[in-house]
Amino acid sequence: MKVAVVQTRPRLHRVEENLAAMDALLQEVDAELIILPELFASGYWFLDREETAGVAEPLGAGPVQDALERWAKSHDAAVCGGLAESEGDRVFNSAVIQGPRGRLAHYRKLHLFDGEKLCFDPGDLAPPVVPWRDAVLGLMICFDWRFCEVARGLTLRGCEILCHPSNLVMEICPAAMVTRALENGIHCCTADR
Ligand code: ACM
Repeated sequence: MKVAVVQTRPRLHRVEENLAAMDALLQEVDAELIILPELFASGYWFLDREETAGVAEPLGAGPVQDALERWAKSHDAAVCGGLAESEGDRVFNSAVIQGPRGRLAHYRKLHLFDGEKLCFDPGDLAPPVVPWRDAVLGLMICFDWRFCEVARGLTLRGCEILCHPSNLVMEICPAAMVTRALENGIHCCTADR
């Protein structure tokens, strides 16, 4: 499996501009699995729910998911990336894995970090595992790294490649992800903002 971890510096609220920048960057990418950061299209440093609600889109509709679908088709790849997701009056820090023929996985971040608790609802879905080509993918989002049970649970359910869209804040995370890989015997792919 050829994997691309694509790291960018999105500008807060500038969804259209950030998607265009990602579009340009992905022209250079040739991989079967492409992993983008947490909230890669909206930026990350929100202050309150009003802000996150302003950029959130419902599952299955919206500019961020349209772009993921377009890239999955153009690259014939699974493309994983984070987005603000709305459902009624709830807003989740979510991620999807989009395949060329449809969505493969969807997850809502369980462990919200610090001020994220002012901006998002905690996730209500188990971290997913899904087969893709000759591997099984797992999905968690950034601060989930701090809780070893998340990666362990995914591994016990078959995960071989852990997709980890992130906006890292704590410097220890990259080292901790090496530990997550070793203790579980899996590949960990962290895409940082
Ligand atoms: C984080 O979970 N983005 C620190």
